[in-house]
Amino acid sequence: MADAKPFHWEYTPPPAPPEVFRIEGGRPLHGNVRVSGAKNAALKMLAAATLTGERCRLTNVPEIEDVRVMAETLRELGVVVDHPSPGVYEVASGDVDWLFVPLEAAAKMRASFILLGPLLARFGRVIISNPGGDRIGRRPVNLHVEAMRTLGASIDYRNGYYYAQAPGRLRGAEVRMPIVSVMGTENAMLAATLADGHTVIRPAAQEPEVDDLITMLRSMGADVTRTYPDTIEIYGKKRLRGAEHRVMPDRIEAGTFLVAAAVTGGRVTLEEAPCEHVSALVEVFEQVGIPIVCGQDTIDVDATGLRPGDIRPCQIETAPYPGLATDLQSPACVLLTQAGGTSRVTESIFEDRLEWLGELRRMGARVEVEDPHHATIQGPTALRGAEVSIGDLRAGASLILAALAAEGESVVHGAHHVQRGYEHIDRKFGELGARIVRTADPVARTATTVGPAGSTSPATAPSEASDPPAG
Ligand code: EPU
Repeated sequence: MADAKPFHWEYTPPPAPPEVFRIEGGRPLHGNVRVSGAKNAALKMLAAATLTGERCRLTNVPEIEDVRVMAETLRELGVVVDHPSPGVYEVASGDVDWLFVPLEAAAKMRASFILLGPLLARFGRVIISNPGGDRIGRRPVNLHVEAMRTLGASIDYRNGYYYAQAPGRLRGAEVRMPIVSVMGTENAMLAATLADGHTVIRPAAQEPEVDDLITMLRSMGADVTRTYPDTIEIYGKKRLRGAEHRVMPDRIEAGTFLVAAAVTGGRVTLEEAPCEHVSALVEVFEQVGIPIVCGQDTIDVDATGLRPGDIRPCQIETAPYPGLATDLQSPACVLLTQAGGTSRVTESIFEDRLEWLGELRRMGARVEVEDPHHATIQGPTALRGAEVSIGDLRAGASLILAALAAEGESVVHGAHHVQRGYEHIDRKFGELGARIVRTADPVARTATTVGPAGSTSPATAPSEASDPPAG
């Protein structure tokens, strides 16, 4: 059976109630902010909890839309997901007999595909929707599917769904990845914890969220070790047990707040922010000349003494960890609008992740996008308030950053994209002195919408717009 061809949207999720951020910019941010739990760790841990019938308890889970969607997707499978207090989730997946992850889940959130590995390994079969593409590129899942086949699964693709089976147990194997994939590594690792025998994943993603997932799996009794920086080895167990785990802090949120302090000329201290998780961004700060100090799980940025033009231009290039995260490319671009000279940006991971720069241009940024992977930014620019639209999560947060730095009022449409991944972002910026409110959108609009086979089309009214899956 042939694998997925370019994916055509067949389902449009009900539109989220349109909301806007109204931001009065030009106010330096000051104070301390605690970094929330990491979205891209918590989502995988909720999925990992299905590897056992015993109860798993997760704490420091961010209160965000993507977590709510993952919890709802699990409940629809028959998994018990309790949410006893803010930040705490308990998952018990005793008898799961509905092994079907529908298009509705995939259309809301690409990360639903992380359920392939654990459900297949524990229950021997699953039917799961192809998550298709989203606003940051094609984002295929061939590496996930190939990894499962290497572990002995048979997988057919029909009508937008993968039909995966592994009668008996999966078998340990050498999983070779042609490129580094975060969720590809995680899916293979989750599946291998219950496979028969020894699995080696190489090259394995080195993102800290992968290691946090390893820590949780080990408390569940799994035998998983990162034996070399790019190698993960697993000895499969017949069963795993319940566990409690605290989700690591969100390094992308941390990076977003660091840039917020810098571009508003403020001073902010991040708490629960291990510096080593954002070392590539800290290097950018050092290169451009913004004072930044790492403490024990704190990071302090002090841009109060900087004048326009003090910030130096630089070249940035995104790369798998420990390189500069693609999720921090857009915040870094906002920073570079304030640098005196020409900066160059290379986005190596995704092909559509520079498109949002068109919106940044509306705020006065001098940006040239040369091709899907390269852009130049001239600075320093006194950004000005404008009406802009959010196309995806990270670009959305970055438009908020630009609005905080800009003189005058900005109206940022599409606030729900940001709610998917940033916990209480308006409240947190408000506590640092920003003037930001989230309100119903009187005139809903979107920047671009992904049409059939991932093509993009100009702004449309919300009734016609589809919301591709986030993160
Ligand atoms: N790729 C393939 N085939 C696959 C999988 C990936 O060709 O089967 C390609 C992708 O198209 C991309 C590259 O491999 O060019 C790397 O993608 P990766 O698989 O690492 O991305 P991901 O696991 O789908 C996670 C994060 C993203 C983050 C990327 C890169 C989650 C839920 N998502 O995605 O986060 O940008 O890693 O670090 O963990 C976000 O949080 O906003 C977000 C998009």
